[in-house]
Amino acid sequence: MQILVTGGAGYIGSHTCVELIKAGYQVVVVDNLCNSKISVLDRVATITGTSLPFIQIDLRDRESLEQVFSEYQFDAVIHFAGLKAVGESVAEPLRYYDNNVEGSLVLFQVMAAHGVKNLVFSSSATVYGDPATVPILEDFPLAATNPYGRSKLMIEEMLRDVATSDPAWCIALLRYFNPAGAHESGLIGEDPNDIPNNLFPYVAQVASGRRELLSVYGDDYPTIDGTGVRDYIHVVDLAIGHVKTLVRLLSKEAGVMAYNLGTGCGSSVLQMIQAFEQASGRRIPYRIVARRPGDIAVCFADASLAQRELNWRAERSIEQMCTDSWRWQAMSEDRFSFA
Ligand code: NAD
Ligand code: UFG
Repeated sequence: MQILVTGGAGYIGSHTCVELIKAGYQVVVVDNLCNSKISVLDRVATITGTSLPFIQIDLRDRESLEQVFSEYQFDAVIHFAGLKAVGESVAEPLRYYDNNVEGSLVLFQVMAAHGVKNLVFSSSATVYGDPATVPILEDFPLAATNPYGRSKLMIEEMLRDVATSDPAWCIALLRYFNPAGAHESGLIGEDPNDIPNNLFPYVAQVASGRRELLSVYGDDYPTIDGTGVRDYIHVVDLAIGHVKTLVRLLSKEAGVMAYNLGTGCGSSVLQMIQAFEQASGRRIPYRIVARRPGDIAVCFADASLAQRELNWRAERSIEQMCTDSWRWQAMSEDRFSFA
């Protein structure tokens, strides 16, 4: 079975390539490397013992994408490629709509033209906006609160329309909660090109001494300790979720399915700091600052649908996420001699 992975050099994509190869799939990666490095794929090859074809293209480059689909016979596409920084999307909405929506549109058109109609799409818990209650179920109202989230919602809607118009499509919308951690080898992990926006990579860089201090955005939320609560999920569990989804898709379950991929448990920012301190043996200096605009108090999944229908559940603990993330961070610092 041949699978095209768009954005396969990125954080979640690279871990998914490892799990796909382990499960016996042949993987082809396309990526424009706007937020990743080609060396990641060498490390995927080291982990798996299999090198994978890579074509550096932007999804909006229709001609080049057509060539890839002419060269390979894909059974399915896993579509990770996109921009993902919420704050940046507020500052540069047109860039986000162009990259995420236009890139996806071109991809789906080329897929349709080549008769490839099995698709797994990287959506996000951000499509639920500020939910009225938790845990969040897949049928909760959808309401994005920023251009990044709206780009995900638009793509979800586009796909629902496509499936209605042509019942041959089998589409899974995977709504990720908060991916964290790294591969246990320490060879691949999250490697943001700029200052990290997300909690986990920021904490890891503070632990290593690369950054001085973590800003904790607010301690006056109605939560256990006043800081924001999220559903952190190990990136390897997430990657395995994609393999389980493919199994279901390729058994010809037609139509559109949406699944929450989370653990079902929430952890606060202060709980995460403490867990990371324990795993790394380093102190994480922090200070409480004002709430970050657009943040919600609490977000965690009801992931029981994925368990029932995909036979998937997250298995790795917060401690494992912190240990693996720290190993990756420490090994990266060795590789690049930071600090
Ligand atoms: P990432 O930035 O590490 O990976 C995305 C990859 O896509 C990068 O390698 C980038 O170079 C590539 N890319 C972007 N635009 C492209 C284009 N037009 N053409 C070709 N390649 C392009 O991000 P990630 O964390 O691995 O996220 C993967 C997907 O999951 C994204 O769609 C993201 O929105 C979604 N997601 C991520 C999170 C998260 O917190 N990491 C949460 C929910 C959903
Ligand atoms: N936080 C801090 N300091 C930081 C960074 C984050 O206190 O430097 C806090 C936030 O306020 C929040 C929690 O840590 O309470 C998690 O924040 P992240 O930025 O790591 O993650 P978000 O929940 O804001 O959003 C992430 C992705 C989105 C995705 C969403 C899905 O960035 O793209 O998870 O749940 F949609």
